[in-house]
Amino acid sequence: MVAEDAAGGARGAAVTDSAGGDGPATTDPESIRRIVREYGAWAPVYDWFARATASVGGVRAGCVAALDLDPGDTVVDFGCGPGVNFPALREAVGPDGRVVGVDVTGPMLDRARALVERRGWTNVSVVRGDATRPPISRADGALATFVTSLFPDPYAVVARWCDLADSVVVANFAPHGGRVANAALGAFARLNARLFDFEVGDPLGQLEARTEASRRALVDCTDEVAVEDYVFGTIRVQAGRS
Ligand SMILES: C[S@@+](CC[C@H](N)C(=O)[O-])C[C@H]1O[C@@H](n2cnc3c(N)ncnc32)[C@H](O)[C@@H]1O
Repeated sequence: MVAEDAAGGARGAAVTDSAGGDGPATTDPESIRRIVREYGAWAPVYDWFARATASVGGVRAGCVAALDLDPGDTVVDFGCGPGVNFPALREAVGPDGRVVGVDVTGPMLDRARALVERRGWTNVSVVRGDATRPPISRADGALATFVTSLFPDPYAVVARWCDLADSVVVANFAPHGGRVANAALGAFARLNARLFDFEVGDPLGQLEARTEASRRALVDCTDEVAVEDYVFGTIRVQAGRS
Protein backbone atom coordinates (compact mmCIF):
# COMPACT_ATOMS: atom_id res chain seq x y z
CA MET A 1 0.00 0.00 0.00
CA VAL A 2 1.48 3.37 -1.01
CA ALA A 3 1.67 5.98 1.73
CA GLU A 4 0.91 9.41 0.33
CA ASP A 5 -0.51 12.66 1.56
CA ALA A 6 -3.08 14.56 -0.47
CA ALA A 7 -5.56 17.23 0.58
CA GLY A 8 -5.82 16.26 4.17
CA GLY A 9 -3.41 13.36 4.18
CA ALA A 10 -4.72 10.06 2.89
CA ARG A 11 -1.84 8.07 4.33
CA GLY A 12 -2.02 4.34 3.79
CA ALA A 13 -3.98 4.51 0.53
CA ALA A 14 -2.58 4.93 -2.94
CA VAL A 15 -3.85 8.42 -3.69
CA THR A 16 -3.31 9.50 -7.29
CA ASP A 17 -4.14 13.17 -6.77
CA SER A 18 -6.57 15.33 -4.83
CA ALA A 19 -8.99 16.24 -7.60
CA GLY A 20 -9.46 13.28 -9.90
CA GLY A 21 -7.76 10.06 -10.80
CA ASP A 22 -7.13 8.14 -13.97
CA GLY A 23 -9.64 7.39 -16.69
CA PRO A 24 -12.54 9.35 -18.06
CA ALA A 25 -15.15 10.80 -15.72
CA THR A 26 -18.51 9.10 -16.11
CA THR A 27 -20.33 12.15 -14.79
CA ASP A 28 -20.40 15.30 -16.90
CA PRO A 29 -19.16 18.61 -15.45
CA GLU A 30 -22.66 20.09 -15.29
CA SER A 31 -23.89 17.11 -13.20
CA ILE A 32 -20.93 17.54 -10.85
CA ARG A 33 -21.70 21.27 -10.51
CA ARG A 34 -25.32 20.46 -9.71
CA ILE A 35 -24.31 17.86 -7.10
CA VAL A 36 -21.87 20.30 -5.48
CA ARG A 37 -24.47 23.10 -5.49
CA GLU A 38 -27.28 20.98 -4.03
CA TYR A 39 -25.28 18.97 -1.50
CA GLY A 40 -23.23 22.04 -0.61
CA ALA A 41 -26.37 24.01 0.28
CA TRP A 42 -27.86 21.12 2.23
CA ALA A 43 -24.69 19.88 3.96
CA PRO A 44 -25.61 21.02 7.53
CA VAL A 45 -29.14 19.58 7.27
CA TYR A 46 -27.89 16.40 5.62
CA ASP A 47 -25.24 15.98 8.31
CA TRP A 48 -27.81 16.32 11.07
CA PHE A 49 -30.33 14.00 9.36
CA ALA A 50 -27.79 11.32 8.45
CA ARG A 51 -26.41 11.25 11.98
CA ALA A 52 -29.90 11.12 13.53
CA THR A 53 -30.84 8.16 11.31
CA ALA A 54 -27.41 6.47 11.20
CA SER A 55 -28.56 3.31 12.96
CA VAL A 56 -32.03 3.06 11.39
CA GLY A 57 -32.64 -0.40 9.99
CA GLY A 58 -29.05 -1.45 10.55
CA VAL A 59 -28.16 -0.45 6.98
CA ARG A 60 -24.80 1.16 7.68
CA ALA A 61 -23.75 -1.57 10.11
CA GLY A 62 -24.81 -4.11 7.47
CA CYS A 63 -22.66 -2.39 4.87
CA VAL A 64 -19.57 -2.41 7.08
CA ALA A 65 -20.12 -6.07 8.00
CA ALA A 66 -20.49 -6.92 4.29
CA LEU A 67 -17.10 -5.31 3.56
CA ASP A 68 -15.56 -8.02 5.74
CA LEU A 69 -12.58 -5.84 6.69
CA ASP A 70 -9.64 -6.96 8.77
CA PRO A 71 -7.67 -4.90 11.27
CA GLY A 72 -4.98 -2.97 9.42
CA ASP A 73 -6.99 -2.74 6.16
CA THR A 74 -7.50 0.40 4.11
CA VAL A 75 -11.07 1.25 3.17
CA VAL A 76 -12.37 4.02 0.92
CA ASP A 77 -15.75 5.63 1.49
CA PHE A 78 -16.77 7.04 -1.92
CA GLY A 79 -19.18 9.97 -1.68
CA CYS A 80 -18.54 9.98 2.06
CA GLY A 81 -20.59 13.14 2.69
CA PRO A 82 -20.16 14.35 6.28
CA GLY A 83 -18.53 11.07 7.33
CA VAL A 84 -21.44 9.19 8.89
CA ASN A 85 -19.83 5.84 8.01
CA PHE A 86 -16.46 6.77 9.48
CA PRO A 87 -16.98 5.56 13.09
CA ALA A 88 -17.98 2.02 12.05
CA LEU A 89 -15.33 1.83 9.32
CA ARG A 90 -12.65 3.01 11.72
CA GLU A 91 -13.71 0.44 14.26
CA ALA A 92 -13.54 -2.30 11.60
CA VAL A 93 -9.98 -1.49 10.45
CA GLY A 94 -8.67 -0.69 13.93
CA PRO A 95 -5.91 1.72 14.90
CA ASP A 96 -3.47 0.31 12.32
CA GLY A 97 -5.92 0.55 9.42
CA ARG A 98 -6.90 3.52 7.28
CA VAL A 99 -10.20 5.13 6.32
CA VAL A 100 -10.22 7.49 3.34
CA GLY A 101 -13.32 9.52 2.57
CA VAL A 102 -13.72 10.88 -0.98
CA ASP A 103 -16.33 13.45 -1.90
CA VAL A 104 -16.74 16.14 -4.49
CA THR A 105 -18.66 18.62 -2.32
CA GLY A 106 -16.52 20.99 -0.25
CA PRO A 107 -19.04 21.74 2.55
CA MET A 108 -19.64 17.99 3.02
CA LEU A 109 -15.91 17.42 3.33
CA ASP A 110 -15.60 20.34 5.76
CA ARG A 111 -18.02 18.55 8.03
CA ALA A 112 -16.25 15.23 7.59
CA ARG A 113 -12.92 16.90 8.41
CA ALA A 114 -14.43 18.59 11.47
CA LEU A 115 -15.66 15.19 12.68
CA VAL A 116 -12.20 13.68 12.23
CA GLU A 117 -10.61 16.56 14.14
CA ARG A 118 -13.19 16.45 16.95
CA ARG A 119 -12.59 12.74 17.46
CA GLY A 120 -8.82 13.11 17.15
CA TRP A 121 -8.64 10.31 14.57
CA THR A 122 -5.19 10.14 12.99
CA ASN A 123 -5.95 7.28 10.61
CA VAL A 124 -8.99 8.85 8.90
CA SER A 125 -8.44 11.21 5.97
CA VAL A 126 -10.64 13.01 3.50
CA VAL A 127 -9.85 13.81 -0.12
CA ARG A 128 -11.78 16.03 -2.48
CA GLY A 129 -12.28 14.15 -5.70
CA ASP A 130 -14.67 12.66 -8.24
CA ALA A 131 -15.57 9.12 -7.23
CA THR A 132 -16.22 8.26 -10.88
CA ARG A 133 -12.47 8.88 -11.48
CA PRO A 134 -11.20 7.54 -8.17
CA PRO A 135 -8.24 9.48 -6.77
CA ILE A 136 -7.24 6.21 -5.08
CA SER A 137 -5.62 3.37 -6.96
CA ARG A 138 -5.63 0.60 -4.34
CA ALA A 139 -7.59 -0.29 -1.20
CA ASP A 140 -8.82 -3.40 0.57
CA GLY A 141 -12.43 -2.26 0.65
CA ALA A 142 -14.62 0.33 -1.07
CA LEU A 143 -17.98 1.51 0.23
CA ALA A 144 -20.57 3.86 -1.28
CA THR A 145 -23.80 4.51 0.57
CA PHE A 146 -26.55 6.37 -1.31
CA VAL A 147 -24.15 7.55 -3.98
CA THR A 148 -24.16 5.36 -7.11
CA SER A 149 -27.79 6.18 -7.97
CA LEU A 150 -26.55 9.71 -8.60
CA PHE A 151 -24.39 8.46 -11.48
CA PRO A 152 -25.88 8.14 -14.97
CA ASP A 153 -23.69 5.06 -15.56
CA PRO A 154 -23.29 3.24 -12.21
CA TYR A 155 -22.10 0.08 -13.98
CA ALA A 156 -18.92 1.78 -15.24
CA VAL A 157 -18.14 3.37 -11.87
CA VAL A 158 -18.73 0.26 -9.77
CA ALA A 159 -16.68 -1.81 -12.25
CA ARG A 160 -13.82 0.66 -11.82
CA TRP A 161 -14.06 0.37 -8.02
CA CYS A 162 -13.89 -3.43 -8.36
CA ASP A 163 -10.51 -2.98 -10.08
CA LEU A 164 -9.08 -1.11 -7.11
CA ALA A 165 -10.57 -2.96 -4.11
CA ASP A 166 -11.02 -6.62 -3.11
CA SER A 167 -14.35 -5.91 -1.51
CA VAL A 168 -16.93 -3.41 -2.84
CA VAL A 169 -20.20 -2.62 -1.10
CA VAL A 170 -22.89 -0.25 -2.37
CA ALA A 171 -26.17 0.72 -0.69
CA ASN A 172 -28.95 2.28 -2.71
CA PHE A 173 -32.65 2.87 -2.74
CA ALA A 174 -34.68 0.23 -4.60
CA PRO A 175 -38.42 -0.53 -4.82
CA HIS A 176 -38.42 -4.04 -3.34
CA GLY A 177 -40.89 -3.43 -0.56
CA GLY A 178 -44.65 -3.52 -0.25
CA ARG A 179 -47.05 -1.13 -1.95
CA VAL A 180 -46.84 1.63 0.67
CA ALA A 181 -43.04 1.50 0.98
CA ASN A 182 -42.62 1.58 -2.79
CA ALA A 183 -45.08 4.47 -3.11
CA ALA A 184 -43.10 6.47 -0.52
CA LEU A 185 -39.90 5.72 -2.41
CA GLY A 186 -41.59 6.74 -5.66
CA ALA A 187 -42.53 10.11 -4.13
CA PHE A 188 -38.91 10.54 -2.96
CA ALA A 189 -37.62 9.71 -6.46
CA ARG A 190 -40.01 12.19 -8.11
CA LEU A 191 -39.08 14.94 -5.62
CA ASN A 192 -35.38 14.40 -6.28
CA ALA A 193 -35.59 13.67 -10.02
CA ARG A 194 -33.50 16.75 -10.86
CA LEU A 195 -30.76 15.82 -8.38
CA PHE A 196 -30.61 12.29 -9.79
CA ASP A 197 -30.73 13.79 -13.28
CA PHE A 198 -33.48 11.37 -14.30
CA GLU A 199 -34.98 11.78 -17.72
CA VAL A 200 -38.69 12.46 -17.81
CA GLY A 201 -40.75 9.33 -17.36
CA ASP A 202 -40.57 6.91 -14.48
CA PRO A 203 -38.18 8.12 -11.71
CA LEU A 204 -38.75 5.00 -9.59
CA GLY A 205 -37.99 2.74 -12.56
CA GLN A 206 -34.83 4.72 -13.27
CA LEU A 207 -33.75 4.48 -9.62
CA GLU A 208 -34.27 0.72 -9.79
CA ALA A 209 -32.36 0.51 -13.09
CA ARG A 210 -29.33 2.24 -11.55
CA THR A 211 -29.37 -0.02 -8.49
CA GLU A 212 -29.57 -3.03 -10.80
CA ALA A 213 -26.67 -1.67 -12.88
CA SER A 214 -24.51 -1.61 -9.72
CA ARG A 215 -25.43 -5.24 -9.06
CA ARG A 216 -24.53 -6.29 -12.60
CA ALA A 217 -21.14 -4.63 -12.27
CA LEU A 218 -20.47 -6.56 -9.05
CA VAL A 219 -21.60 -9.81 -10.69
CA ASP A 220 -19.39 -9.22 -13.75
CA CYS A 221 -16.32 -7.92 -11.90
CA THR A 222 -16.13 -9.85 -8.59
CA ASP A 223 -16.19 -13.54 -7.65
CA GLU A 224 -18.97 -13.56 -5.10
CA VAL A 225 -22.00 -11.26 -4.74
CA ALA A 226 -24.42 -10.95 -1.83
CA VAL A 227 -27.56 -8.84 -1.79
CA GLU A 228 -29.60 -7.87 1.25
CA ASP A 229 -32.68 -5.64 1.55
CA TYR A 230 -33.34 -3.29 4.46
CA VAL A 231 -35.99 -0.82 5.68
CA PHE A 232 -39.13 -2.46 4.30
CA GLY A 233 -37.32 -3.44 1.12
CA THR A 234 -36.52 0.14 0.10
CA ILE A 235 -32.75 -0.03 0.61
CA ARG A 236 -30.61 -2.65 -1.10
CA VAL A 237 -27.08 -3.43 0.06
CA GLN A 238 -25.00 -5.21 -2.58
CA ALA A 239 -21.58 -6.63 -1.82
CA GLY A 240 -18.97 -8.08 -4.15
CA ARG A 241 -15.76 -9.87 -3.14
CA SER A 242 -12.83 -10.90 -5.31
C1 LIG B 1 -26.79 11.20 -0.43
S1 LIG B 1 -25.16 11.76 0.00
C2 LIG B 1 -24.52 10.31 0.80
C3 LIG B 1 -23.45 10.64 1.79
C4 LIG B 1 -22.94 9.45 2.59
N1 LIG B 1 -22.40 8.41 1.74
C5 LIG B 1 -24.01 8.90 3.46
O1 LIG B 1 -24.35 7.71 3.32
O2 LIG B 1 -24.52 9.63 4.30
C6 LIG B 1 -24.35 11.69 -1.58
C7 LIG B 1 -22.92 12.18 -1.50
O3 LIG B 1 -22.24 11.80 -2.69
C8 LIG B 1 -21.40 12.86 -3.09
N2 LIG B 1 -21.14 12.70 -4.52
C9 LIG B 1 -22.03 12.70 -5.53
N3 LIG B 1 -21.42 12.51 -6.70
C10 LIG B 1 -20.10 12.38 -6.44
C11 LIG B 1 -18.95 12.15 -7.23
N4 LIG B 1 -19.03 12.02 -8.57
N5 LIG B 1 -17.76 12.06 -6.61
C12 LIG B 1 -17.65 12.18 -5.27
N6 LIG B 1 -18.70 12.41 -4.46
C13 LIG B 1 -19.92 12.50 -5.04
C14 LIG B 1 -22.19 14.11 -2.74
O4 LIG B 1 -21.37 15.25 -2.66
C15 LIG B 1 -22.78 13.71 -1.39
O5 LIG B 1 -21.93 14.04 -0.34
